[in-house]
Amino acid sequence: MKICIIGTGYVGLVTGTCLADFGLQVTCVDQDETKISLLNSGGVPIYEPNLAPLIEKNISAGRLTFTTDLEKAVKESKVIFIAVGTPSNNDGSANLAQIETVAQQIAISLKDCKGYKVIVNKSTAPIGTAHKIKEIISKNQGVIARSEATKQSPQEPIDFDVVSNPEFLREGSAIYDFTHPDKIVIGTNSPKALKIMQEIYRPLYLIDTPFVITNPETAELIKYACNAFLATKITFINEIANLCDKVGADVHQIAKAMGLDGRISPKFLHPGPGYGGSCFPKDTEALYHFASTCGYEFKLLKGVISANKRQRELMVDKIKHHLDNLKGKTIAVLGLAFKQNTDDIRQSPSIDIIQLLLKEGAKIRCFDPLAMENTRKVLPTLTYCQDEYETAEHCDALVIATEWNQFRNLDLLKIKKLLKSPILLDLRNLYEPAQVKALGFIYDGVGRK
Ligand SMILES: NC(=O)c1ccc[n+]([C@@H]2O[C@H](COP(=O)([O-])OP(=O)(O)OC[C@H]3O[C@@H](n4cnc5c(N)ncnc54)[C@H](O)[C@@H]3O)[C@@H](O)[C@H]2O)c1
Repeated sequence: MKICIIGTGYVGLVTGTCLADFGLQVTCVDQDETKISLLNSGGVPIYEPNLAPLIEKNISAGRLTFTTDLEKAVKESKVIFIAVGTPSNNDGSANLAQIETVAQQIAISLKDCKGYKVIVNKSTAPIGTAHKIKEIISKNQGVIARSEATKQSPQEPIDFDVVSNPEFLREGSAIYDFTHPDKIVIGTNSPKALKIMQEIYRPLYLIDTPFVITNPETAELIKYACNAFLATKITFINEIANLCDKVGADVHQIAKAMGLDGRISPKFLHPGPGYGGSCFPKDTEALYHFASTCGYEFKLLKGVISANKRQRELMVDKIKHHLDNLKGKTIAVLGLAFKQNTDDIRQSPSIDIIQLLLKEGAKIRCFDPLAMENTRKVLPTLTYCQDEYETAEHCDALVIATEWNQFRNLDLLKIKKLLKSPILLDLRNLYEPAQVKALGFIYDGVGRK
């Protein structure tokens, strides 16, 4: 079966590569010529563990190709996945411009096509988006059919269905998540489209992946409900951690005890500087906004969004508490990516905190194993260092902002010698407070001292 994926970003590239690895014939399309020519010359535009060798394997097998020619890819494919961005508008609502443009491009490309096609929306988008895609394609096909009718023989509109198939992969473990998902959600009212989707995901049926088959609207809301719930869980433990800071309790013990309760589970109970990344911040905002447009005030989510913003400020307050005035102080920041194992800095807590520190007059030295190139584009004035130790040189404090494994076993005595003052602000709780203090550090974590 021939498939094309429109949008070759974190989701599209991983989806395309994994579907090719399932044995399907896949064309990944992007409007970004630099990205496509990089992929065509053997490069990979993003970092994701195990992605590069899997791309290479499937290109060599002749199952995976990359192009900017959307029209040709759509014409040749039976199934067309949409995996373009859905950023936030200024009011927090989801900006659907990229999806709408792609729907129009698909409609134009369907001209002269024969046979049935399935359009699958993988982008995270509010209720009604699958319906909207169907409307745009139907309307524009109608225009094509009518204008053609005046010149040549009238064109019958092509038979197609639109499916909502939200994606749940996590950056940093995207290949594993795509090939071992907790669930596959397929939202469609068409038995014909459903059969094709089940065929695409057959390798996952074989490993007993649960399938949730529902209508498009429910599928669309499932994705937002999952992300909003996880964001709420992170925010909840952050709030408990902040309370621990006030009363001297240890949030790790609390998270451990909570996690041992089978009804709660230990996942997403790691306190820190607040959730970030390309999904949770925009998806919580979009769900809140969408609920408002339905006449419902989602009060819990409003609290989560505002507590998460405050969490960044509280982290800066912590730094200020130990350094007093930040003007002229130099802070070493370890970690720029929004989490480990990715080069993605979108809505990264580290970047937000650095920006707040800069506003207070601090200077920043920083290091990240993968995200320096992306950060340099938005914050060119920081001092970018070779490693953790060069970063610490002559700094007034060291801040750990991302939970990279390589930051878990630093030579702290060496760090202490390099720092101007031995202050360690561990915003990811990577270290045991007592052990670090025994080395002569002033230590502060999130919800544990
Ligand atoms: N990143 C994640 O971890 C993740 C996880 C689950 C769901 N999602 C959702 O998936 C969607 C895509 O996210 P992403 O992180 O992959 O985005 P991304 O920004 O990394 O990639 C989107 C790509 O689409 C391309 N594009 C935009 N318009 C196009 C057009 N008209 N024709 C061809 N290409 C076009 C862009 O050039 C870009 O390369 C979003 O809705 C996101 O919320 C993301």
